[in-house]
Amino acid sequence: MSSYVEQYRRSMSGPEGFWLDAAEAVDWFRKPKKALDDQQPPFYRWYPDGQLNICYNALDRHVIKGDADRTALIYDSPVTDTKRSYSYAELLDLVGRAAGVLRALGVERGDRVVVYLPMVPEAIVTMLACARIGAVHSVVFGGFAPAELATRIDDAQPKVIVTASCGVERSRVVPYKPMVDDAIERAQHKPERVLLVQRPQLEAEMGERDIDWATAMKPGAVEPAGCESMLATDPLYVLYTSGTTGKPKGIVRDHGGYTVALQWSMTNVYGMSPGEVWFTASDVGWVVGHSYIVYAPLIAGCTTVLFEGKPVGTPDASTFWRIIAENDVKALFTAPTAFRAIKKEDPDGALVAGHDVSGFRTLFMAGERLDPDTWQWATDKLDVPVIDNWWQTETGWPIASNLVGLEPLPIKPGSATVPVPGYDVQILDSQGQQAPAGTEGAVCIKLPLPPGTLPTLWQDDARYESSYLSAYPGYYLTGDGGYLDDDGYLFVLGRTDDVLNVAGHRLSTGGIEAALAGHPAVAECAVIGVADPLKGQVPRALVVLKAGDQWADLDDAALEQLRGELGRRVREEVGPIATLQQVDVVAALPKTRSGKILRKTMRQMADGQEAPVPSTIEDATVLDALARILGREGTSQG
Ligand code: COA
Ligand code: AMP
Repeated sequence: MSSYVEQYRRSMSGPEGFWLDAAEAVDWFRKPKKALDDQQPPFYRWYPDGQLNICYNALDRHVIKGDADRTALIYDSPVTDTKRSYSYAELLDLVGRAAGVLRALGVERGDRVVVYLPMVPEAIVTMLACARIGAVHSVVFGGFAPAELATRIDDAQPKVIVTASCGVERSRVVPYKPMVDDAIERAQHKPERVLLVQRPQLEAEMGERDIDWATAMKPGAVEPAGCESMLATDPLYVLYTSGTTGKPKGIVRDHGGYTVALQWSMTNVYGMSPGEVWFTASDVGWVVGHSYIVYAPLIAGCTTVLFEGKPVGTPDASTFWRIIAENDVKALFTAPTAFRAIKKEDPDGALVAGHDVSGFRTLFMAGERLDPDTWQWATDKLDVPVIDNWWQTETGWPIASNLVGLEPLPIKPGSATVPVPGYDVQILDSQGQQAPAGTEGAVCIKLPLPPGTLPTLWQDDARYESSYLSAYPGYYLTGDGGYLDDDGYLFVLGRTDDVLNVAGHRLSTGGIEAALAGHPAVAECAVIGVADPLKGQVPRALVVLKAGDQWADLDDAALEQLRGELGRRVREEVGPIATLQQVDVVAALPKTRSGKILRKTMRQMADGQEAPVPSTIEDATVLDALARILGREGTSQG
């Protein structure tokens, strides 16, 4: 029997033994005797009697075992022209001091710390420092605007916010500190302190609640903090992700299950060994960054690359190849959008030849669907296996992948290969029955989910149940549609709900619609994610204007001005990553008789796909009127 099949079956038939064995690879302060606590279904907890600290596993244990001088972190920032390396001992020293600073600011076990930082080493240091003292970090991606940050501040109720004076983007310096001040102004909850990293590109003015990072971190100025012994089930972080409504979901991650799952994945999914260099080009604000820039590579004793730049334009499409060659990177993990951007700039892949990438072993892709064209291009140009892996913020690590560390399987372009051990992936039809092989349905995971996945939503068990567990009792609903083929390969086809995926960034239609609805001219609106050759999807808006003289019969110039205002509102309220591709003013939006807007039908029309019209449509002529605007005449009544 193949290793994969054997391991997968073992994880299904004897999860207790499988996950207790996996737990042997991490260091515990109190070793668990039990893997799964299933006393309160549908809520499951892993390693209920175990105690450990994820920061100890990421740093201290490597130093103690003799790898103090091994490089832990390489910071490569073409946008600031900086390259810097940190050994495990140096990173531990910084993290110990930062943990001491947070503690001195009154942060205790269980307190929340919001982190709003660009891709600088201080982001990793802060996350690990929180973990070290048992504080719960909540990192917010820098591309989100103050209103989004404020929503997260109000939900997480942090004692401290850690931020920087600015981020450095491809073409501009983005002032972060004024956005934090604005967010605190908007939020009901007021954090006590803001710990501020001053960057030379743009220094920020200090306010009353602000503390200067560099001063606080001076050696001798602070007592370094040691590791708290945490229950495996204690929360490590809350990471907000977009649902279908404007209110983000606070995904909770625990200490123990996550440490075990990440360690297991680095060996078995990604095939990495201690001492090897691993490069994830994402952002610490996303789950890919949390798991595979920060925690997993360090837990596994690898060197992690923190890249502050873009795949193109910093300075060109050869940046990834330079970093791989200079650091002997064994594996790169990024989103397909990054490769589409590189392919656009350098279609023949000529820039690869300028760098010695002979030591490079595997390219991993996740965050959005890996289209076969991009897969083929990357395979041809790099001459290494290109591995699609599918997962989401909620799971924290791959649900489906080709497990190259365990046993490489043949690749089928368009498929994320097979379910990872621990995940009982099933395709369910609308009746909740398993769909036959090759038939599309809702991709679901039979409970319990494996270690490392979300136990619940932050202080909202009810929403956890209603969002994920109520559609099919006994199953977790991923929100993706897809099918399993005859060989058990999983093909994920896209979201079945109103979540957008723009350049591997997950955004909610509801959040963008709320920003549009705040404009005085808008009576109602709908946002859909339409196909885009570079970013996978981009948001497009359809708005109905309020009746009355002011908004009736606008001429072209006035309409153009209105479109500009609406676009700016979205950038200001949600953030620049949500920039609208197009805004159309329409007479009415298509709805079902119960008032649900038919976003999926409009998206299918805009993408030139077959667009079956639900029989419950209130007024079919509304769709006919939209056909021209959305670029497609024919719809079929169903
Ligand atoms: N802080 C502040 N602003 C940010 C930001 C951050 N952390 N990240 C992005 N932005 C801004 C950008 O500056 C840009 O602003 P602009 O419209 O004023 O130029 C806007 O948000 C859109 O950014 P982005 O989506 O990155 O588009 P881009 O045109 O600058 O770059 C790509 C295009 C393809 C190069 C880029 O999307 C990319 O690298 N994608 C890889 C995807 C990825 O890593 N996904 C992570 C999930 S695994
Ligand atoms: P996020 O939670 O931001 O990581 O986004 C998760 C969503 O991105 C998933 O539910 C999918 O819709 C999409 N996604 C991520 N990885 C893949 C992949 N490899 N193939 C297809 N879709 C993916």
